[in-house]
Amino acid sequence: MVGRDFDGTISKQSSNNNRGASGQGAEEAKLFASEGAKVVATDVQFELLEDVVKEIKANGGDAIAIKHNVTSADDWKMVVETAVKEFEKVDILVNNAGITGLITQTIEDLDEPTWDKILDINTKGPYLGIKAVLPEMKKVGGGSIVNISSLSGINGVGNAAYNSSKGGLRLLTKNVALDYGKYNIRVNSVHPGTIETPMIEMFTSNKEVREMTLAGIPLNVLGQSLDIAYGVLYLASDESKFVTGIELIIDGGSILH
Ligand SMILES: NC(=O)c1ccc[n+]([C@@H]2O[C@H](COP(=O)([O-])OP(=O)(O)OC[C@H]3O[C@@H](n4cnc5c(N)ncnc54)[C@H](O)[C@@H]3O)[C@@H](O)[C@H]2O)c1
Repeated sequence: MVGRDFDGTISKQSSNNNRGASGQGAEEAKLFASEGAKVVATDVQFELLEDVVKEIKANGGDAIAIKHNVTSADDWKMVVETAVKEFEKVDILVNNAGITGLITQTIEDLDEPTWDKILDINTKGPYLGIKAVLPEMKKVGGGSIVNISSLSGINGVGNAAYNSSKGGLRLLTKNVALDYGKYNIRVNSVHPGTIETPMIEMFTSNKEVREMTLAGIPLNVLGQSLDIAYGVLYLASDESKFVTGIELIIDGGSILH
């Protein structure tokens, strides 16, 4: 998969791949680098991130690691400036960083600091990131933004703050897609089902919960980070050049229930 806009030379493509320390972000960073993207991998967990970047470099890829809190506008400014300095431009943004909430918690149990924290990271983070990259994408004649939402951003199952944060991100995606199509900037959301990553270990490590989860997935397996990474790669690449504002659901069929 190559950036056709770039004379077939994918090495000119730069990617600002927000969050890449483990789970889906790490897999996306590695897959993008293997396709020739120059990856700026960012996360609050810097040590894990460095390991991912080392692996990318050992496999001949090009990437840098930056410690970055997605809730900080100053951090976003620094990340975008560094990306442009290192790799000349930013034409891809993957808003992947996120935290979950307790699924057993009803809205009455949900305290305000928890609500604020989940909304800050999962919805305000992407809002700040999108604002930070738009000027750079306009400069280079376009770009692709991929927001990692969730099935919980569509169907309301789970924690109220998490649902609200991911539902908000789903509509933020469509708003920016409508306003920035004229600049050849595409914006899409990805909605993973249950993916085996550190985020959901607390659920899947329990045998009973794991079996209950599997019973809700028609394909009867949990998703893997690479299942999501391929979808993100498609939306980031020129192969999806006529695709904007969509919701790509990757969930083994869970939404059918
Ligand atoms: N795993 C699933 O089943 C699942 C399902 C649907 C959606 N998602 C979404 O997929 C995305 C990736 O999650 P994952 O499953 O790989 O989980 P993960 O816990 O492995 O990854 C989340 C990452 O976000 C980083 N992060 C948290 N707060 C941050 C902040 N303020 N600034 C920068 N980085 C921060 C963490 O350090 C961590 O590396 C998340 O947005 C999550 O909500 C996951």
